[in-house]
Amino acid sequence: MSPFQITRTLPEDATDAALRADVLDGLTSIPKTLPPKWFYDAHGSDLFERITALPEYYPTRAEREILKDRAGDIAAATGARTLVELGSGSSEKTRYLIDALTSLRGYVPVDVSESALVQAGQALVAERPDLDVHALIADFTGALALPDTPGPRLVAFLGGTIGNLLPAERATFLASVRALLSPGDALLLGTDLVKDERVLVRAYDDAAGVTAAFNKNVLAVINRELGADFEPEAFDHVALWNAEREWIEMRLRARTAQTVKVPALDLAVDFAAGEELRTEVSAKFREDGVRAELAAAGMELTHWWTDRERRFALSLAAAR
Ligand code: SAH
Ligand code: AVI
Repeated sequence: MSPFQITRTLPEDATDAALRADVLDGLTSIPKTLPPKWFYDAHGSDLFERITALPEYYPTRAEREILKDRAGDIAAATGARTLVELGSGSSEKTRYLIDALTSLRGYVPVDVSESALVQAGQALVAERPDLDVHALIADFTGALALPDTPGPRLVAFLGGTIGNLLPAERATFLASVRALLSPGDALLLGTDLVKDERVLVRAYDDAAGVTAAFNKNVLAVINRELGADFEPEAFDHVALWNAEREWIEMRLRARTAQTVKVPALDLAVDFAAGEELRTEVSAKFREDGVRAELAAAGMELTHWWTDRERRFALSLAAAR
């Protein structure tokens, strides 16, 4: 069997410090916010996988359709020997790329979720013993120290996860991705597209309540890690379309006035009845906007592919 290495690029106490800083900052801001990366403990990663199979959640199916149809074109355009995947999760759709990239030697999945990396990595090495799989437990919004692997490299960022970054965070993130690219390397970027508001809201407020459970899971993470006493059932899941910013917002709305204690931060947080905590934005894109954001980060859009219903796009870009 080929080596499956997993490297934690940040010590666990740094992750703990980052969670404390984000929770302190977010719960004392007006309005209150939390960054979405804290959804993804092992339970949150499982809930996300359940979301991807929901009838209302079209992005995974739409992106899979594009990858299935275009993996050969992507392989021909890039000739990648190393595939780096940011926010790789289950790596399920990535298999189309891995199978099409005939020169591929190594796969570097990068994720904050150790459980997702271990599950995906072990399954992959069992099936592809010829591939070096070097997983990194890392925050893709920080400085990424990638292993020394052969080029050309293809950096994939799938699922529309770039939409979970705020515009200023996206600009910083894309500039750091650009800095990873040598001549001949490429970025493959998945973006969900602007569409009918009802389709969008349904995708984030499914009938079975899986997205609501995913949203509330961040409260369970804070309870476990920081000893807080959030009562998830005291909050309602809210998904709404912000037409001006062209993003979905997920929020948690307090059902009643309440005070939540966070002992690890020596903090008591008051919620008014009906007060909302923003837990995620999920921006939706247009071709011109993607092209402009890539250009601003020093990259050129070379290919734009959509599914047949034009719900989702994959962009291929190179350093300028
Ligand atoms: N790419 C997969 C998974 C998308 S879910 C797909 O398309 O289905 C988003 C993934 O990004 C999760 O696995 C989550 O753990 C990871 N993630 C979220 N924020 C992150 C961050 N700041 N750094 C690294 N990984 C992150
Ligand atoms: C990971 N990311 C692209 C998902 C999205 O659609 O924004 C996370 C998610 N949030 C609610 N459902 C899915």
